[in-house]
Amino acid sequence: MRAPAATAARTQQLLDQVTQFLDRPVPPALERALRTVPRHLFLPERVWCSDGQGGYDLCDRTVDPDRWLEAAYSDVSLVTQFTDSLPTSSASMPSMVLRTLLLAGLATLSRPLNVAELGTATGFNAALLCALLGDQAVTTIELDAALADVGERNLRAAGYTPKVVRGDAAAGWPDRAPYDLILATFSVDRLPPAWTAQTAPGGRIITPWNSAWCCYGTLALTTHQDGSAQGRFHRFAAFMPMRCPHPAPGTPGPTTPDGPPQTATSTLSPWAVAGGDLDAEFHVGLSVPGASFAWDTSGDHAPVRLEVADTTGPSWVTVDYDGHHNDRFAVAQSGPRRLWDEISAAYDRWLTLGRPSVDEHGLTVDATGAHTPWVEAAGRRHAIDLARCPGQPSEPQSLTPPARSARPVRIDKPSPGGTP
Ligand SMILES: C[S@@+](CC[C@H](N)C(=O)[O-])C[C@H]1O[C@@H](n2cnc3c(N)ncnc32)[C@H](O)[C@@H]1O
Repeated sequence: MRAPAATAARTQQLLDQVTQFLDRPVPPALERALRTVPRHLFLPERVWCSDGQGGYDLCDRTVDPDRWLEAAYSDVSLVTQFTDSLPTSSASMPSMVLRTLLLAGLATLSRPLNVAELGTATGFNAALLCALLGDQAVTTIELDAALADVGERNLRAAGYTPKVVRGDAAAGWPDRAPYDLILATFSVDRLPPAWTAQTAPGGRIITPWNSAWCCYGTLALTTHQDGSAQGRFHRFAAFMPMRCPHPAPGTPGPTTPDGPPQTATSTLSPWAVAGGDLDAEFHVGLSVPGASFAWDTSGDHAPVRLEVADTTGPSWVTVDYDGHHNDRFAVAQSGPRRLWDEISAAYDRWLTLGRPSVDEHGLTVDATGAHTPWVEAAGRRHAIDLARCPGQPSEPQSLTPPARSARPVRIDKPSPGGTP
């Protein structure tokens, strides 16, 4: 179905914005797909746009149809659902969608591909895939049954009939495997084994990434005959995290009294690791699994305090700035993990390696599912030895994600471009 004339001009406006953001022309195949799939057909009446300050503005078609249509054809992500005040579904930012399709190699096709898209939501991305590859080539999976119904309805109304699966995308969809491409539209901190198992050797898995520390980056892996996969992170996008059908209970409390926290003075500034340097934060997040942070500026404990918690266990640390000294900070650590020591070691390594950027990092997942992150610096690949809580198994066997941190995941990085 072609976009009606009324939206053709708006589509051009969207293409111009996307081109500007990508800093290069949109390849013809992707441009054709974007012109063919009218984005407004995939949006509900009520969507929320970022207000640029960490909050959201409601945009309601019944109240202001022009503003709603303008939002539909702007290069912004639009939240379509909140759960417990956190966004849980959205229409992704079009330039991020196109960057992902480019990364997946869909601008030029040398053969037919069988693709699984994970996270149907509005159905817009699935429709673009159908426009590029044909309906038969596309399977799309959505955990939230109500959203899947809406997404499927949108797709049908726009003339597309991919296979829409209701279920947990962590399990993939074996019925149509093997896939040449698995494309997730939510972020993960580990690769579910089903994704590598269901991707053909030589196929690609593309997924936004998050750690408890830093929700950022897109991972593009190639799968191998032996069941392993390897690839790099790319410096774009912050997507909402994968949802789990049976969320784990809250952070477990200490099983034995831990005694008073261990106190020390640190020369590492909390701003160095949690002050907005994406490359440093990404490295810390990849190196210190489970660690999350929140700033306390209430002044109740210190002029400024960084609170760090282990989302997988009872350990925590506070790092206080006394309002005067930029070269020494009071640290109190508790629990089996010495989180600040782990974070300091990760930051030191990042400095020693020459401050590698997000896209100098990569990940190898071996045939057993063991994850080894790495950094390429000074012409050499350096494996990151993952920090572990004493007594923890070297690789978690369960797919259950760690309990969510109280800190909302930041999904609105202003630059170089984020989208839920
Ligand atoms: C950013 S939205 C996807 C945008 C979508 N592809 C589009 O074009 O509009 C992420 C979606 O992933 C879904 N999701 C999250 N975790 C999931 C899971 N484990 N299995 C399947 N879908 C999941 C969410 O419900 C949400 O609708």
